[in-house]
Amino acid sequence: MTQARAKQQRDILVTSALPYANGPIHLGHLLEYIQTDIWVRYQNMRGQNCYYVCADDAHGTAIMLRAEREGISSEQLIERIREEHQQDFAGFNIRFDNYYSTHSEENRQFSEFIYRKLKENGHIATRQITQFFDPEKEMFLADRFIKGTCPKCKAEDQYGDNCEACGATYTPAELINARSAVSGATPVEKQSEHFFFRLPDFEDFLKEWTRSGTLQPQVANKLAEWLDAGLQEWDISRDKPYFGFEIPDAPGKYFYVWLDAPIGYLASFKNLCNRVGIDFEHFWKADSEAEVYHFIGKDIINFHALFWPAMLHDAGFRTPTAVWAHGFVTVNGKKMSKSRGTFIMARTYLDHLDPEYLRYYFASKLTAGVDDMDLNLEDFAARVNSDLVGKVVNIASRSAGFITKRFDGRLGTVTEQEKLKSFIDAGEEIADFYETREFGRAMRRIMELADIANQYVNEEQPWVIAKQEGQDGKLQAICTNAINMFRLLMTYLAPVLPKTAERADSFLDAPLDWNNRSQLLENHAINKFSPLMSRVDMAQVEKMIEASREEMVSATGGQPEAKKAAGNLEPVADEIEFPDFAKVDLRVARIVKAEHVEGADKLLRLTLDIGHGERNVFAGIKSAYGPEELEGRMTVMVANLKPRKMKFGLSEGMVLAAGPGGEEIFILSPDSGATPGMRVM
Ligand code: 2FM
Ligand code: ZN
Repeated sequence: MTQARAKQQRDILVTSALPYANGPIHLGHLLEYIQTDIWVRYQNMRGQNCYYVCADDAHGTAIMLRAEREGISSEQLIERIREEHQQDFAGFNIRFDNYYSTHSEENRQFSEFIYRKLKENGHIATRQITQFFDPEKEMFLADRFIKGTCPKCKAEDQYGDNCEACGATYTPAELINARSAVSGATPVEKQSEHFFFRLPDFEDFLKEWTRSGTLQPQVANKLAEWLDAGLQEWDISRDKPYFGFEIPDAPGKYFYVWLDAPIGYLASFKNLCNRVGIDFEHFWKADSEAEVYHFIGKDIINFHALFWPAMLHDAGFRTPTAVWAHGFVTVNGKKMSKSRGTFIMARTYLDHLDPEYLRYYFASKLTAGVDDMDLNLEDFAARVNSDLVGKVVNIASRSAGFITKRFDGRLGTVTEQEKLKSFIDAGEEIADFYETREFGRAMRRIMELADIANQYVNEEQPWVIAKQEGQDGKLQAICTNAINMFRLLMTYLAPVLPKTAERADSFLDAPLDWNNRSQLLENHAINKFSPLMSRVDMAQVEKMIEASREEMVSATGGQPEAKKAAGNLEPVADEIEFPDFAKVDLRVARIVKAEHVEGADKLLRLTLDIGHGERNVFAGIKSAYGPEELEGRMTVMVANLKPRKMKFGLSEGMVLAAGPGGEEIFILSPDSGATPGMRVM
């Protein structure tokens, strides 16, 4: 038996997309890592030899510019962010076998190796291209680092490739009054030699590969459309200054971040292999029997299902067994939004709520498809409370007490053989759901069983039996049956709820072993029951939203990096009528006092004199100003903003400031002569 199973053991390598090393992990990211982690935990629980590797995606212009702004080296920045990312992932019990960085020696070697192969095989072209160039910063500018006036609707501050106001798309050359978002200089056109990967050479290979069961049907259809439309060569080089790997024999030319990012999967795995003695070749040689799966978001399918398999194939590696895309996360039915407080960082979530809740909620809504997923916060609380606390944990809490008090902690024998057999058999179906990433269906099936278990306890009424003379045997049997049902449910939930499963394991003093689940717990001593999970408290959810809003007020974090780099030049908002504007009471204010706020990373407490009294305002400007720089200064405030209760007290208004955040926040001041209380109009 052991022999047979050992033979069938699958060797599996799994990855999630490598997050950029330029910003914090948020709930949008977490869907993918939670999905992957559940799948990997499931495989390992079933005895497969499954590894999960990831890394920070550390290269590119955005990271280089951010490090520059922070006055540190790119290496220092990516190390710091990698540390933060790892803490966030650990907080959600995402269990990587290796978490590495694309800025690693292994990755440099693989990138060079693959590039040389592509070149040897004639799939690299070079040609001159014309691009915008920032003469002050002496760097070429990607479209998103160019801003100007939309040629169509004349909206100002639009990016170089599309207008957020009217939706028009254009080239940076068409922008009116184009300027570099990095330095503000007027960009000039300049030629440069670029390297291209000749993707069209792989058309036949890719037509075959994308139709061979490697992709979800919706994704395969989309790719068929792209393939029919014809493939383009892919620009894989960037000019210095760039944070990345220099291209061999091409001084001043660097691999584009998206070339070495997926190669980072190889590098992270190689690093793991070297550390713990796994045979890398076995997983990656061309005819490997091991399985390789990439979990990704639907926005990066082209990189994973076109460029990546073509590169691997040409360089003599195996291609992925499958690439699995998921949809985006919305919160309360809308895109995550900073002003609504629904752009929730992993850290902010963890400060308020148990990660097991989110793992369960995501699992309960995940399918094998690419549909977007809504995190409705009311539904989130209701579902976790009803399913996990109300159904699953309840089974144990209703039976454990009797076992402890009346039977010295010892279970008796199972008397509901049939029922328990149906619980055991359901494990096959649930296993299929996990295997095929139909986690929502798995959770529903588990909850059906939980309903059956609760119904059983309701019907048997152990609390009534407990009061009857001479019914000890019956009481112990009911509780033994129920606890065995509970144990099977927790076994099936373990990939989703690793911490709760650990607690259940210590309560039962027996492992949750999927493959040996038909061995029931009988005549076995269990430990005293303590609550395995508490209810979701809606007040905590609200606090989390409030904290997320405060982070937004503080003007840092979570900005798409290009926008930050571009000086946060957001498009002009929708027009308003004058009476709307007139409602805003802007006043000149003197900063009488500025103080640090204990426990707040980003806020300063300002006491403002507005002529007829003082106002207390929390302003997210700590990253830019020390309190001493502010005291005595004049500024402008919104004086009739409804006071808002924040974690640290009541905030009675807002100070006007501009800038992308971090050290670049600029308080607005009136010219001399203005006095506190004057109306600004
Ligand atoms: O889209 C992103 O966030 C990329 N950093 C993902 C890279 S995945 C892999 F190719 F490295
Ligand atoms: Zn426009």
